[in-house]
Amino acid sequence: MRKLLLSLLFLSALATVYSQTAPNDYMREYEASQARTEWMTDARFGMFIHFGAYAVPARGEWVKTTERMSNEEYQKYIDEFNPVDCDMKEWARLAKKAGMKYAVMTSKHHDGFCLFDSKFTDYSTQETIGRDLVKEFIEAFRAEGLKVGLYYSLIDWHHPDYPKYNDLHHPMRGKEEFQNEQINWDNYLKYLHGQVNEITSNYGTLDVLWMDFSYGEMTGEKWQAQKLVQMVRKNQPNIIINNRLQASGEGVIGLRNFFLGDFDTPEQGVPEKEMFDEFGNPLRWETCLTLNNNWGYALNDDNWKSPELVIHTLIDIVSKNGNLLLNVGPDGRGNIPPQSVKILKEVGKWMDLNHESIYGCGNAGLETPQWGRITQKDNTLYLHWMYPKIGYINMNGYADKALSVTLLSTGAEAYTASSWWGNKAENNFLINLNTPIYHTFPLPDPYSTVIELRLK
Ligand code: GLC
Repeated sequence: MRKLLLSLLFLSALATVYSQTAPNDYMREYEASQARTEWMTDARFGMFIHFGAYAVPARGEWVKTTERMSNEEYQKYIDEFNPVDCDMKEWARLAKKAGMKYAVMTSKHHDGFCLFDSKFTDYSTQETIGRDLVKEFIEAFRAEGLKVGLYYSLIDWHHPDYPKYNDLHHPMRGKEEFQNEQINWDNYLKYLHGQVNEITSNYGTLDVLWMDFSYGEMTGEKWQAQKLVQMVRKNQPNIIINNRLQASGEGVIGLRNFFLGDFDTPEQGVPEKEMFDEFGNPLRWETCLTLNNNWGYALNDDNWKSPELVIHTLIDIVSKNGNLLLNVGPDGRGNIPPQSVKILKEVGKWMDLNHESIYGCGNAGLETPQWGRITQKDNTLYLHWMYPKIGYINMNGYADKALSVTLLSTGAEAYTASSWWGNKAENNFLINLNTPIYHTFPLPDPYSTVIELRLK
């Protein structure tokens, strides 16, 4: 018996030592990452911009590979790409008007064509049209007070030293003439590292580096990720980096390396609830989302999301501690499609009146109500009444805790009661925006009527 007790004691001591030592450096990294990314909570809403020569064929940013084009075939689009209407100041004003706090633009997408001046290649807008579009972007968006980030594609469908024949996505995959081609991977790595060095040191402060993406064995150290990030963090001590040096848009990573990436990037969807790592620590995450069904400009894609869906998605995301990076794909002349502009302006109108329920807000730790979502900041709950219902909403148990209950957009006092008709349940806290006998329909805001519930 004594032996058993002793060995149990020994085992539990071992377990404590083990569980403490393993997560210790992990926790240090985790906390450093949490500190770097704190502004994501304040910002919550950003603009993604997919801009490049693929806007000319206007069939999305993967066109080169979906249509299996060679470099020569794709060249006509490089030659034609001249966005004469492109005024990034206008884009920046639009983002700001929509209520966005940051923006991330493609500096190079998978097609390999660079929107910046690079000493490593002539394959850039600097060479073709004499414009450093990355510089224009950064200056314009910073001038509007927005944080700025750059997307950089790890994948490169133009560089001669990127794998082709056996690659999963390359336009030349499976083409016989590439079967025995010799490539020099180190050469590509030099190029990749060299360019990431350029974009993180030539334009002043950069807030986000958005790498895209890892797949199969093309992940982590294949990119020399450790070394790459070391350089990036040296150039930009406060930069935040997404998770795609380790994952793809669908990618779930287990034990993470927070040095290599600060936040997760669920693509085209919203997780069921907040996200946590294996030890139960909350994770930062950002859903990236298109406004129609393409990232890059696509002439015939008319599957536009409604402003209501966008607003509901943003609220849903914030209620789960995430961010929304909402995409626009400017056309070949550099205009953001009018449909996108219209949606963003409508979203902006809602944000004008209700942004306090978004910026700096997060999960309220309450069950998701049938009538919408709840977000929280400090001592205030924001009740997003998104789905019309007859009668009151019930914040059962909050009567004693409430300091004030108002309509966020106007500051008008809401109507509250403890019973209605037969509903006399204990701790009822019935909230309505009208007199006791009239229910609230239509709701004052068609997208989401926000009630501010300040707690004592
Ligand atoms: C994907 C796609 C890409 C897009 C990105 C945005 O990984 O390859 O076209 O830029 O997701 O999240």
